[in-house]
Amino acid sequence: MYFSCSICVFIIPSLFQSFTFSSGDVLVTPPPFTINQTALLQYLSLGNITIDLPALYVFGDSFVDPGNNNFLNTSIKSNYTPYGIDFEGMPSGRTTNGRTVVDFIAQVVGLPFPPPALDVSEAKKNSRTGVNYGSASGGILPSPPLVENLFGHVLSMDEQIAFFENTTKDLKCQFNNAESFAQHLSKSLFFFHVGGNDLGLYWDLERHSNYSAQKYSQLLIDELSMQLQKLYELGVRKFFVNNVSPMGCQPYSIVVEKPKTTQCVEEMNARIVNFNKQIPPLLSHLQSTLPGSKFVLGDLYKIYEDVFASPASYGFTNVKKSCCIDPFRNQTRPCAPNVEPCKERNQHVFFDPYHPSENMHFVIARRFLKDSSVSSPINLLQLIQS
Ligand SMILES: *[C@@H]1O[C@H](CO)[C@@H](O)[C@H](O)[C@H]1NC(C)=O
Ligand SMILES: *[C@@H]1O[C@H](CO)[C@@H](O)[C@H](O)[C@H]1NC(C)=O
Ligand SMILES: *[C@@H]1O[C@H](CO)[C@@H](O)[C@H](O)[C@H]1NC(C)=O
Ligand SMILES: *[C@@H]1O[C@H](CO)[C@@H](O)[C@H](O)[C@H]1NC(C)=O
Ligand SMILES: *[C@@H]1O[C@H](CO)[C@@H](O)[C@H](O)[C@H]1NC(C)=O
Ligand SMILES: *[C@@H]1O[C@H](CO)[C@@H](O)[C@H](O)[C@H]1NC(C)=O
Repeated sequence: MYFSCSICVFIIPSLFQSFTFSSGDVLVTPPPFTINQTALLQYLSLGNITIDLPALYVFGDSFVDPGNNNFLNTSIKSNYTPYGIDFEGMPSGRTTNGRTVVDFIAQVVGLPFPPPALDVSEAKKNSRTGVNYGSASGGILPSPPLVENLFGHVLSMDEQIAFFENTTKDLKCQFNNAESFAQHLSKSLFFFHVGGNDLGLYWDLERHSNYSAQKYSQLLIDELSMQLQKLYELGVRKFFVNNVSPMGCQPYSIVVEKPKTTQCVEEMNARIVNFNKQIPPLLSHLQSTLPGSKFVLGDLYKIYEDVFASPASYGFTNVKKSCCIDPFRNQTRPCAPNVEPCKERNQHVFFDPYHPSENMHFVIARRFLKDSSVSSPINLLQLIQS
């Protein structure tokens, strides 16, 4: 089950963090679906630390969507097998074979998986422990007309925030006084994964003809800044903000663009890096101007780079090809319905041509939690415990 620590590549950054790695930290399979919190903390070599997080709220796109799009008039849905094959065989809308990074975080902190906000009865029932507003194909900006015409309507960040505002109205009634309500929100974790569609799908199909890359990047940062401030005004204090992954290395981009001299589509990655560079100054500015706030960056881009540089040490043998089979069999479309995916799912970084496998989600979750070289200025566990 375990690699020995001598080949563990992220042992060096771990020297600079509060939780030290013990041998056997490089796990090559995700934990069992039904694992309990105690056993999972042990699996992650986190001993018996105490965690007291009231709730986990999630915003973003297909990376985290647990099925919101199933309730929308859009063709972007992953509600069929092989999606969910390792989620007790149930396709939920998640764009992967099993749990996502936020599902793993929920299990680590001992909370239910945050349900889709649009599954109204579930969302109401779980409003006190967390709700997920993520919508596949959603962005910082609303999807441009061409994208909306092609794929239908999905939830933009502004709409997700509007739904959360309604959640807070429901929630308020569940607390005795304004103080305990404010305490609940300020202690809860807010997880963001957004920007990839703005820089990928929206840019490719339409926005490139409306903006220069530089202007567009600035527009996205300005919008994101307003969105995070709006959430602060609603009472949010603990923000965990992912940057955008190197989408120029996803199977889809490689197959479509066929880079000649490099492994990945460098033009796309350069656009992403240019955007990502503006996130740390944004977050430190927000933290210094909004009293009581904590903004932490999840450096997703770096985690992918580390995995690509040293796949075996994370248990991966395949970093370039999708595990599932798409209708064209050339990795240019989401998985074809009811076609058996590859057997060695844990060894693939990508489950479909755009999205990580459950095991990659698990790698991301455990590095965010423990490793301040990819979660700064503090690791996710420290943010949770703060
Ligand atoms: C958690 O799971 C482990 C292993 O299956 C089991 O031994 C333990 O009793 C469980 N603990 C709780 C609190 O349920
Ligand atoms: C668990 O925590 C208690 C109290 O802090 C400590 O005495 C004990 O040694 C810990 N056990 C492990 C396995 O870390
Ligand atoms: C759903 O979207 C399609 C095109 O994206 C549109 O033609 C249709 O009218 C929409 N249906 C509803 C109920 O909004
Ligand atoms: C929020 O609630 C109000 C009042 O119930 C409703 O009119 C509105 O459509 C809701 N908005 C969202 C985004 O759910
Ligand atoms: C953006 O570009 C598209 C496609 O070229 C065009 O149809 C649209 O009018 C432009 N939008 C704006 C706001 O300029
Ligand atoms: C993928 O396959 C489809 C259907 O055969 C074809 O139309 C498309 O051009 C192919 N795309 C690439 C990038 O090979």
